[in-house]
Amino acid sequence: MTSIVQFADIHFGVEDKDAMAALAATVDTLKPDITVICGDITQNGKRDEFLAARDWIKSLAGPKVITPGNHDTQMYGILQRFFDPFGRYNKIIAPLSEPHYTDQNVSIMPLNTSRGWQAKLDWSLGVVDMEELERVSDQLKATSPETVKMICVHHPLVYPPSSPLQKETENGVEALIRLSELNIDAVLSGHVHAPFALERQPDETEIMSIGSGTLSVRRRDKPASFNHLIVNEETITVTEIFWEDGKFAVATPWIKHISELKSRRPVQPL
Ligand SMILES: [Fe+2]
Repeated sequence: MTSIVQFADIHFGVEDKDAMAALAATVDTLKPDITVICGDITQNGKRDEFLAARDWIKSLAGPKVITPGNHDTQMYGILQRFFDPFGRYNKIIAPLSEPHYTDQNVSIMPLNTSRGWQAKLDWSLGVVDMEELERVSDQLKATSPETVKMICVHHPLVYPPSSPLQKETENGVEALIRLSELNIDAVLSGHVHAPFALERQPDETEIMSIGSGTLSVRRRDKPASFNHLIVNEETITVTEIFWEDGKFAVATPWIKHISELKSRRPVQPL
C-alpha cells in the first residue's frame, strides 16, 4: 500500500492559518509515503512567502514531488517574470522536490504547466510543452509496468465540468490523449481551488484526473481541503479531507479498480 497526500494552492501569504495550524496532526494520521504539491505554493512569489513555504515543506516527513504554479513566479518583478520567472522557486523550493518518485505501487513525475509570461493576455493559463511531456513520460515508462503512473501538474489539462473556473490549458487535450496513449494512469493537479476525481476516456482509453482543493483563504465556494490517495494492488482510493467547523473532516472516497487501468496497457514482451 502507498499512502499519498496531495496538496495544491496553499498560497503562503494568504494561507488559511487555522487549517494550516491543524494540518500536521491530521497528516500524521495518514502516514504518507509521499507528498505531492501541485503548485501555487505562494501568493505573489515573494521571498518571505517562499521561506514560510520552505519551512512547512521541510516539516513534512518523507519525500515530496513538487511542481510550481502560476503564482510561484514573481508577481512584482517584471524583469524576473520575463528572464527568470522561477528563480526564487528554483532556489528555495525545487531542491526539496524529488526529480521523480517510485515504489512498488506508484511512479510520480512533475511537469511544469506554469509560465512567467506568455504571448496572450492571461499569463495565468496553463501550457503543456509536448516535448517535455514526452521526456517525463519516458521516465515513467522506464519504471515497473506494475506501478500506477502519475504526473503532477498545476493546471488541469482539461478542466472538469464541476470546476468553478473554466479555462483552457494550451495543448491540454492533446496532452491528455498522448498520456493515455503512453499508458500514464493519472494526472494530479491544482489551480481551480476545488477538489475533483474523475476518469476520462480520450481515444477510448482511460486516464484519471485528480485535483486537490486549496488550503488558502482564496475559496471558490468550497472549503479548504487536500486529498489523500491510497494505492494498493487492487484499487486507488481518493479522499477529500476538508476543513469545516474548526476541524478536518473526511468526504466520501472515490474508488478506481487497478484492473480497469491494467486492461488497457500493452502486453509486455516476454
Ligand atoms: Fe491557486
